Amino acid sequence: MWNNIFIFIFLIVKSSGSDYDDEATVSVAEEDYARSWECTGYCGDNVLRSGRLNDSPMKSRVLDAMMSSQILPLTKDKPDLFTNFIDQYDLPKGFTGPLAEYDFIIVGAGSAGSVLASRLSQGGRASVLLLEAGQGESVLTDVPILAPLLQQTGYVWPYVMEYEPNVCTGMVDGRCFWPRGKAVGGTSVVNYMIYTRGLQEDWDRIAAAGNYGWSYNEVTQFYMKHERANLKGLKNSPWHGRDGELSVEDIPFRSKLSKAFLDAAKLYGHRRVDYNTPDAFGFSYIQATLQRGQRASSAKAFLHNHKKRKNLHILTTTRATKVIIDPSNKMAVGVEFHKNGRVYQIRANKEVILSAGPIESPHLLMLSGVGPRKQLQSLGIPVIQDLKVGQTLYDHISFPGLVFTLNQTKLTLVERKISTVQNILQYQQYGDGPMSSLAGVETIGYIKTNVSDEIGDYPDIELLGSCASLASDEGDIVAKGIRLSNWLYNDVYKPVEGVESFTILFMLLHPKSKGYLRLQSVDPYQQPSLYGNYLTHKKDVDTMVAAIRYIIKLVDTPPFRKYGAKLYRKKFPNCLEFEFDSDGYWECAVRAITATLHHQIATCRMGPRSDPEAVVDPELRVHGISNLRVVDSSIIPRTIVAHTNAPAIMIGEKGADMIKRTWNLY
Ligand SMILES: Cc1cc2nc3c(=O)[nH]c(=O)nc-3n(C[C@H](O)[C@H](O)[C@H](O)COP(=O)(O)OP(=O)(O)OC[C@H]3O[C@@H](n4cnc5c(N)ncnc54)[C@H](O)[C@@H]3O)c2cc1C
Ligand SMILES: *[C@@H]1O[C@H](CO)[C@@H](O)[C@H](O)[C@H]1NC(C)=O
Ligand SMILES: *[C@@H]1O[C@H](CO)[C@@H](O)[C@H](O)[C@H]1NC(C)=O
Repeated sequence: MWNNIFIFIFLIVKSSGSDYDDEATVSVAEEDYARSWECTGYCGDNVLRSGRLNDSPMKSRVLDAMMSSQILPLTKDKPDLFTNFIDQYDLPKGFTGPLAEYDFIIVGAGSAGSVLASRLSQGGRASVLLLEAGQGESVLTDVPILAPLLQQTGYVWPYVMEYEPNVCTGMVDGRCFWPRGKAVGGTSVVNYMIYTRGLQEDWDRIAAAGNYGWSYNEVTQFYMKHERANLKGLKNSPWHGRDGELSVEDIPFRSKLSKAFLDAAKLYGHRRVDYNTPDAFGFSYIQATLQRGQRASSAKAFLHNHKKRKNLHILTTTRATKVIIDPSNKMAVGVEFHKNGRVYQIRANKEVILSAGPIESPHLLMLSGVGPRKQLQSLGIPVIQDLKVGQTLYDHISFPGLVFTLNQTKLTLVERKISTVQNILQYQQYGDGPMSSLAGVETIGYIKTNVSDEIGDYPDIELLGSCASLASDEGDIVAKGIRLSNWLYNDVYKPVEGVESFTILFMLLHPKSKGYLRLQSVDPYQQPSLYGNYLTHKKDVDTMVAAIRYIIKLVDTPPFRKYGAKLYRKKFPNCLEFEFDSDGYWECAVRAITATLHHQIATCRMGPRSDPEAVVDPELRVHGISNLRVVDSSIIPRTIVAHTNAPAIMIGEKGADMIKRTWNLY
């Protein structure tokens, strides 16, 4: 039946000589719609939900100020404020439900899935069904300063890492929280909007491992293709795209501390760089996925303007449960999913593509019979292809627990002080002011600590300068978002709530410790068990301690001293046996607040056939299965010097290019 629409549209295109006509009327025969039946068995989200650890009501002074400013007609009686003004993705006019078959079925409208769906449906040459478990963005998810608050809303999948002794000891129940975005736009709707692509070295190493097509020069063209950069001083840079859909901007708000950070770095000989070029080893203001001060999610960039495309059907609040694979020829033929309590099985005539992110993509593969043989057999799942799905998992961890106090005011973002109607108006009118801050994060610096054994200018730590600390929001938002224990917050951070303070964060770029995930159940709604294996390698501990020492040294310079910046020396109550500022003390501290920056990768690792750990090949096709690809951050095979949103979008862009070549869709 799709062919009929296709021909019909083709005629319109031909006769009008214009682009694919979104306004064309369609009539769909009843038998071309997908059939569905009532779900019995595993149908609900309750198991995942019960993983929630903090059930205290959400508190946010910024939200309160927004309500009282009445700029947005938010109604407080909604059970969830965030459900006001949700971006709707109805089926295009003329369709009353999903069809029985499409050319492509994409699972997950996240950072990667959004661009992929947009590209594959471009030009009307193929039909695309995009399945997304979450709902559209809201006016509130757009506001950068609210980013950390989103971790307490229904816009995340509230995963928790399995208990691991000696890390996350300061978190609720000693377990780390791994929220992932659940929205049209995926994790790009809840993230901190930092735009980083990874270094030349990173991608060249990936390519050198047999991943043809993934060298720095090759991936750069895919980054630039969709980029619309508006960055001060870089108007003529050959490393930035200008006509793409994804807006990349400077953060409109800058505190004086951001300048202090860059000035201090200069004193230690660090250069100012554009870190999204081959010459990246240095310091810089952050480049952010913002559009006039508002969040530029992948959905905003790639889907929002294409709601009328007749050949792109987006189903929200829809949960894929399985890829249907014909065991006789190991060919993916469709997807099973749940929507509104009903089960659908829809056919993919060309390919099924998993873009469900680093936890759900491997999860879905395993539920579908693709994964480690023993693990699947132990749960009674027939094995279609034995692959090391989920066996590699890298992550980037951080330590947000350092505090430097100041002897002056108006230097940091104290939530109580900035939550004013005036600031809301400022943001509403000009898209700037404190509300446009990435919750305080402003600057980036790449360093190589003295424990690194890398040669050359290859960093082992990324510093992230900020103008806030855990105490700046009185523990209501950031500490709650990472599920910090009250005993730790109240003892250490509460006493400095009344003083202005900031932290400098850092990211352990190349952890030697490797994690994994495991299927726990055949119930698709039960989260896989997640094992971070953080800090199991001594080198990782040493690098983190070295990073802390570096930060202390950086702040002990005139640019910071002039504001009276001082390391706050209150000991963690669980680390009292160590002398403050000793290596042992800092190790104890990072084991207490072992906070992820949410860059889980490699669970569907890319690698050539010869790589025993590989799940997908360099064209992102699942090894051993035809017509099935994984296109998202889970394919990144090794740690990269980047926050993973831009890389995921690039992977979506490059994935689309490879798929279009395969099927002659150019
Ligand atoms: C709090 C936080 C802050 C971050 N900050 C930054 C940052 O500042 N900069 C940066 O670069 N990166 C950041 N990241 C990481 C980055 O955003 C992610 O790595 C990236 O968005 C991942 O993209 P993806 O396409 O692989 O997956 P996602 O964007 O997570 O997309 C997966 C999508 O699939 C959907 N899905 C999953 N399973 C199913 C199913 N069974 N059926 C239907 N739909 C399904 C999900 O709901 C989701 O929408 C942050 C992450 C978090 C959580
Ligand atoms: C690294 O520097 C710190 C001081 O900043 C020092 O104590 C430590 O011994 C050095 N480590 C190495 C391996 O040089
Ligand atoms: C803050 O401390 C610095 C350094 O000690 C000092 O020069 C400055 O005068 C102090 N400012 C205030 C307002 O106390």
